[in-house]
Amino acid sequence: MKAVVMNAVGDAGVLEYVERPEPAPRAGEVLVEVAVAGVNFMDIGIRQGMSWNETPNPKILGAEGMGRVVALGAGVSGFEVGQRVAWVYAPGSYAQRIAVPAGALVAVPDFIDDQTAAASMMQGLTAKHFATDFYRTQPGDIAFVHAAAGGVGLLLTQITKLYGGKVIGRVSSQDKVAAAKAAGADHVIVDAEGKFAEQALRLTDGAGVHVVYDGSGPSTFQGSLDVLRRSGTFCWYGPVLGGPGALNIMSLPKSIKLGYAVYANLIPTPELLRHHAGQLFDWIAEGKLKINIGAVYPLADAVRAHTDMASRATTGKLLLLP
Ligand SMILES: NC(=O)c1ccc[n+]([C@@H]2O[C@H](COP(=O)([O-])OP(=O)(O)OC[C@H]3O[C@@H](n4cnc5c(N)ncnc54)[C@H](OP(=O)(O)O)[C@@H]3O)[C@@H](O)[C@H]2O)c1
Repeated sequence: MKAVVMNAVGDAGVLEYVERPEPAPRAGEVLVEVAVAGVNFMDIGIRQGMSWNETPNPKILGAEGMGRVVALGAGVSGFEVGQRVAWVYAPGSYAQRIAVPAGALVAVPDFIDDQTAAASMMQGLTAKHFATDFYRTQPGDIAFVHAAAGGVGLLLTQITKLYGGKVIGRVSSQDKVAAAKAAGADHVIVDAEGKFAEQALRLTDGAGVHVVYDGSGPSTFQGSLDVLRRSGTFCWYGPVLGGPGALNIMSLPKSIKLGYAVYANLIPTPELLRHHAGQLFDWIAEGKLKINIGAVYPLADAVRAHTDMASRATTGKLLLLP
């Protein structure tokens, strides 16, 4: 089968489209023909050696996708050959076939198309965790969303609006404003240098926002502290672009609550994974949530997908078609 491997830690040039042996499902696994693989910012982090280093290179990259069941490993029940399934974390998803632990699979309902299913999983469950669980959005809340035209950002904006909140988004260039506004952002600030706080405070009559969602690296950290109101919540979530470094807890202002949110904490069991994915699918079917697919590439063009995402030029979800 064809797959995209990373040959070493490094820039997008370490990726290669190669022939790999067919996987065979072990006990508890399901063999899936991959229809669509998701590209996530975390894939760039893995490629740069930030995690998943216990698996030696060359290894197949990618953690998310959807496809059709080809075979069941010993002891698997609840799935059948031909069934459409999606997953949020199964290393080796940039491939034509993958063996996925059954517990990581979600059945995809007929009313969700293939690309929407693949695009909903990582970024959808992440945004749902942040805006409904890490921070419980209440009507009238004002959220500040960084990278508001990105995959997670567009969904955070929509979910905040769904719960009656308002959104101030930040994007790095003017050509992303329309996408952020179409997702429901009430105001969009264009800034790529961490100088957004003054504008955001003006938009809230000086009071600041209830919650800030920041996965955009060290350059935005201080501004994100500055835009929060008293007792506001700082949802920090961007390990790939990096954090603020060592932090003196007594330097934190305004009794804010600061935490590192990780999507996996919403879904510690297969039952919860299926429950939350099912709710995302229902929101999509009811027209409450729109999955924005920014670009679709052939699997062989994974280098281009990575380069585009790192260039800050993309909006919405990037997908690969094996
Ligand atoms: N903690 C978790 O559980 C979790 C789960 C999923 C994703 N994440 C994090 O969420 C963030 C968004 O992920 P995503 O997959 O949805 O990607 P994405 O938002 O579609 O793309 C990344 C965006 O980050 C912004 N950015 C800021 N500084 C950048 C830089 N130096 N280089 C490149 N981009 C930069 C860009 O938006 P602007 O140019 O508009 O600023 C870019 O569009 C990432 O930090 C990712 O690691 C965390």
